[in-house]
Amino acid sequence: MRNNKQQTTNNQRQTTNNKQPTTNDKQPTTNNKQPTTNNKPINLFDYETLAPQHLSQMALDYYASGAGDEITLRNNRSAFEALQLRPRMLVDVSQRDLSTEILGEPVAMPILIAPMAFQCLAHPEGEIATAKAAAALGTVMVLSTMSTKSLEEVAQIPQQTNQWFQLYIHRDRDLTRALVERAEAAGFKALCLTVDTPLLGSREKDRRNQFTLPSGLELANLATMANLQIPQTAGESGLLSYFAQQIDPGVTWWDLEWLHSLTSLPIVVKGILRGDDALRAVEYGAKAVIVSNHGGRQLDGAHATIDALPEIVAAVGDQAQVLIDGGIRRGTDVLKALALGAQGVLLGRPVLWGLAVAGEAGVRQVLEILRDELDLAMGLSGCATIQDIGSSLVK
Ligand code: FNR
Ligand code: LAC
Repeated sequence: MRNNKQQTTNNQRQTTNNKQPTTNDKQPTTNNKQPTTNNKPINLFDYETLAPQHLSQMALDYYASGAGDEITLRNNRSAFEALQLRPRMLVDVSQRDLSTEILGEPVAMPILIAPMAFQCLAHPEGEIATAKAAAALGTVMVLSTMSTKSLEEVAQIPQQTNQWFQLYIHRDRDLTRALVERAEAAGFKALCLTVDTPLLGSREKDRRNQFTLPSGLELANLATMANLQIPQTAGESGLLSYFAQQIDPGVTWWDLEWLHSLTSLPIVVKGILRGDDALRAVEYGAKAVIVSNHGGRQLDGAHATIDALPEIVAAVGDQAQVLIDGGIRRGTDVLKALALGAQGVLLGRPVLWGLAVAGEAGVRQVLEILRDELDLAMGLSGCATIQDIGSSLVK
C-alpha cells in the first residue's frame, strides 16, 4: 500500500545523490531471484524486490541500510551461504513438527519477529499488523521501544499473543522505569534489552537523507509520556541525533540488576557477539541471549552472527536459551542456526518487506514461506522434529 504522504520529492532528490547502491538492492538481481510481474512472491527475496514500490526512498534506505561500508550486513548473508549441510537419509519424515518452546512458552515454529522501529513507515497499520501476523502464525513478536503504535495498542489486539517488549534505556531513568512498568502491565511476556546500541551506528544513507519521521508518525510510546520526537537535524540523521541526546551510553552490566529490581519479567539480552559476554549476561540473570549485530546496522566489521554462534552456545551451555538474528532469509538458514545450537531465530527486514507489500497478510505470507522452507529443509535432512536437528547436520 503506497503511502503518498511520504513520497516527497525532497527525499527522492537527496537519495539520488547516494553513490552506492546497497547490497540489498543488488542481492535479488545477482541471485536471479526476481519474480516476474505475473508471479506471486515465492521467497523472501521476492518480497525484498517488491517492497521498494511501496516505500518512500527515505523509508527504504532506513530499512535496508547497514552501517559504514555494510561489510557486516553482507557477511551475515555470505556466512550462511558458506555453511554446508550433511543431510541424513532414510528417516521417516512423513509427520513433521516445527513446534518448540521459547522461554518456557510454546511456539508453533522457532522463527520469531525481531524488534524493528517505525513500522508505520511501511504500512498505516504498522506494528499492529505485524503483531496480528505473529499471533496468526503462533509465534513471538518483539515490539521496539521506538514503535509507531503504542505498546498498549499492540498488546490489545484481539488474538492470543506472546509479545516481548524491546527496551532502550534512556538517560531519563524515570521514563525508562515507566516504560518497563507499562510493558509489564500491558501483558508483555519478556523484556528484551538491546545492548549493542549505546550510540547509533553510522548509516550513511540516513545521514544524507537527514532521516526523520514524516508528519503524522510519532514515537508512540514516548511522545505522550515525555514529548520526545525524532528531531529534524540539518545535515544529519534525526535518529542518530535522538540516540545521542536521549539514549544512555553509560549502560553497564549493573543495569541488568537495576532492571531485575523493576520487573519480574524474564530478561533477554539482545546484541551479544562473544562467549564471555553471553556468560556474563547469564550470570546477571538473562534467561536468553540473542546473538545479533543489529542486522549490520551498528559496528561495521563485527563478525557475522552465524560465525559468532558456536562460541556463544559453548559458553552458555544449558544455562539459558540462545537465539540468533541477522541475514536469515531461507529455511535452510534456520536449519543451520538450529544445528549450530540456537533454539530459535528472529527475522528482521523481510517482515518489513511483507508489511510494505501487503500489510498483515504480507507479513503472514513472509512467515509462512520461511516456515514452509524450514519444514522442507527438515524433511530433506532427516529431521522430523526440532529436537532432531543436531550439530552433525552442518560442516
Ligand atoms: C532494527 N533492529 C532493531 N533492534 C532493536 O533492538 N530495536 C530496534 O528498534 C530496532 N530497529 C530496527 C529497525 C530496522 C529498520 C531494522 C532493519 C532493524 C535490529 C533487528 O532487531 C535485528 O537485529 C536485525 O534486523 C536482524 O537482521 P535482518 O534479519 O534484518 O538481516
Ligand atoms: C535501528 C534502531 C532504532 O536499528 O534500533 O534503526
